[in-house]
Amino acid sequence: MKVIGILGSLRTDSVHKQILRHYKELAEELFELEEASIAGIPMYDGEVDSHPAVQALAERIATADGVIFFSPEYNYSIPGGLKNAIDWLSRVKPQPFAGKTAAIIGASPGNLGTARMQYHLRQVGVFLDLQIMNKPEVMIGGSGSKIKDGRIVDQSTLDFLTRHAQAFSEFTLKRLDAIPG
Ligand code: FNR
Repeated sequence: MKVIGILGSLRTDSVHKQILRHYKELAEELFELEEASIAGIPMYDGEVDSHPAVQALAERIATADGVIFFSPEYNYSIPGGLKNAIDWLSRVKPQPFAGKTAAIIGASPGNLGTARMQYHLRQVGVFLDLQIMNKPEVMIGGSGSKIKDGRIVDQSTLDFLTRHAQAFSEFTLKRLDAIPG
């Protein structure tokens, strides 16, 4: 099973990039997690039909069995760069997110662990026809003490992410089984 992990942050030292890379190791016996960046995607312009960076990402999503967003919360919502990438991708035909299973993983220095961003992204997912797994939700609060030197050092977070990977694998397999052919 192949899952694409879309990063909502462009930062080289992004906490979400570090989480994605550690999660990939935790999930490696369940599915292959491919890291995808939104770098190079210009601002959406309704008069421009396509862009190579969008097309390339759309193809990677289309050939994956599921999608996991690893994203921070900006100003209580979806980071503008990620929303812009989603807006572009939603115009590609066939729309690559349609029918795919998805999950959202976020971390913040404060307590809420990107909860507000995640519910906005779930709302956007309705129009995209993403099948976003309801539970478990991953909202990692207090990221400053749980992630050190690029690794998740908090054992309960590691255990929880391992259970999440198992749940997402089962959720996606069930959905793939339900699709005829
Ligand atoms: C933030 N941050 C933030 N955090 C949060 O929990 N709620 C919020 O609304 C915001 N808003 C916000 C806006 C902007 C413009 C920035 C740059 C940051 C803090 C954010 O959670 C923190 O910087 C994360 O570490 C960013 O993730 P990456 O880039 O490390 O993956």
